[in-house]
Amino acid sequence: MKIGIIGTGHIGKTLVRTLSAAGHEVRVANSRGPDTIDAELLANGAQAATTAAAMQQADVVILSIPLLRLRDIAPLVQALPPDTVVIDTSNYYPVRDGTIDGIEAGQVESLWVADVLGRPVVKAWNAIGSDSFARKGQAAGSPGRIAIPVAADDARARAIGIGLVNDTGFDGFDAGGLADSWRQQPGAPGYCTDLTSGDLGPALAAAQRERLAKRRDLAVAVMQERLGDPTTNPDADFGVRLTRAINM
Ligand SMILES: NC(=O)c1ccc[n+]([C@@H]2O[C@H](COP(=O)([O-])OP(=O)(O)OC[C@H]3O[C@@H](n4cnc5c(N)ncnc54)[C@H](OP(=O)(O)O)[C@@H]3O)[C@@H](O)[C@H]2O)c1
Repeated sequence: MKIGIIGTGHIGKTLVRTLSAAGHEVRVANSRGPDTIDAELLANGAQAATTAAAMQQADVVILSIPLLRLRDIAPLVQALPPDTVVIDTSNYYPVRDGTIDGIEAGQVESLWVADVLGRPVVKAWNAIGSDSFARKGQAAGSPGRIAIPVAADDARARAIGIGLVNDTGFDGFDAGGLADSWRQQPGAPGYCTDLTSGDLGPALAAAQRERLAKRRDLAVAVMQERLGDPTTNPDADFGVRLTRAINM
């Protein structure tokens, strides 16, 4: 598949490595231009590009940039052909994104994203911590393989998202439509808790919407106290112990 990946940060870099290693034709962009992309990231055959070029002729475009920055690239996303599948990895963190009134008023994050982009999205890879994502992928069928929820309204797009999650080393888990995707948002039992497919379904079902924001902010406060710097991501051991203690 031809895949355009926008963002080479904590999540984007692992998307580039794993999807190009799986044989996909990957073009990748960040905000600073193709010359700034690490050669090491291109070792499996991915090509550095501008954001517009990364999206051009892609079957799938994966957006892995801060939620607030999605507005910057909305015009490019809107211009994509209707059958291009757009996957978004983002989460809303007020400490990073500022206050977004619609989401604060209860709008599901992925529906807010779809409004900003002017087209439907697949929500995937938002509920795995960056260190787990980089280090805990396993071959399909491996015992204990971690599952990642994938939500979308369009069945074809969701199936493509599930297949690509599998290609990155995790069980793609069918989490249904976007209206229910608050169940995989920060603060939920299935968010960054590294569950298997067998445990993820009950965790999504157990989510309590009114508790998500408080639990998200508790996790951020603890991480900031422990790590000092809000841009540093926790290692998987600490991150998963923390989110399990707060969210489950
Ligand atoms: N970190 C996690 O554990 C985690 C887990 C799941 C989901 N997520 C979500 O996934 C998204 C990405 O997170 P991250 O931690 O990977 O972020 P990050 O490390 O801060 O990286 C962000 C990337 O986005 C690029 N970018 C920003 N604005 C852009 C624009 N207008 N055009 C093109 N590229 C742009 C940046 O480019 P430069 O390199 O040029 O600055 C950078 O490569 C966020 O929404 C986050 O909430 C994160």
